[in-house]
Amino acid sequence: MKFLVLNGPNLNFLGIREPGIYGSETYATLLDKIRTHAAMRGVEVKLAQSNHEGALVDEIQAAFGDCDGIVINPGAYTHTSVAILDAVKAVNIPTVEVHISDVSKREDFRQISYIRAACIATVSGHGTDGYLEAIDLLIAHLGGGA
Ligand code: DQA
Repeated sequence: MKFLVLNGPNLNFLGIREPGIYGSETYATLLDKIRTHAAMRGVEVKLAQSNHEGALVDEIQAAFGDCDGIVINPGAYTHTSVAILDAVKAVNIPTVEVHISDVSKREDFRQISYIRAACIATVSGHGTDGYLEAIDLLIAHLGGGA
């Protein structure tokens, strides 16, 4: 089983950006956590991050025929991007949306998620552990018994 774990804009600044909201763990630490968890579950992961909407669409398209699941934190594009929603629909790969912060308790403009409609689940407000939960949700969804 192979999953794409895709992060959108500013998530490479984890540990630097607004630590009161996103915590002090760095992006590199997050990647280590994901790699360790995936290895424990026997899942292969491709890790990617971009600050550019089109590059995120490219990564989703590249997962077609290559990955069995997608974990995505689209960052601010969550609230604006029809293109990322369409890409996930186009590849038709089971996808879990992740947010480090609890977006439901934040500004009004964060209450809309375009991508949610194409996802099998959303994990929000569980910090970086949410990525690990998302991996387990995908394994369970695909019948792998996490
Ligand atoms: C985020 C929440 C988004 O609203 C924000 O734009 C982000 C990060 C989160 O992980 O909590 O960049 O997706």
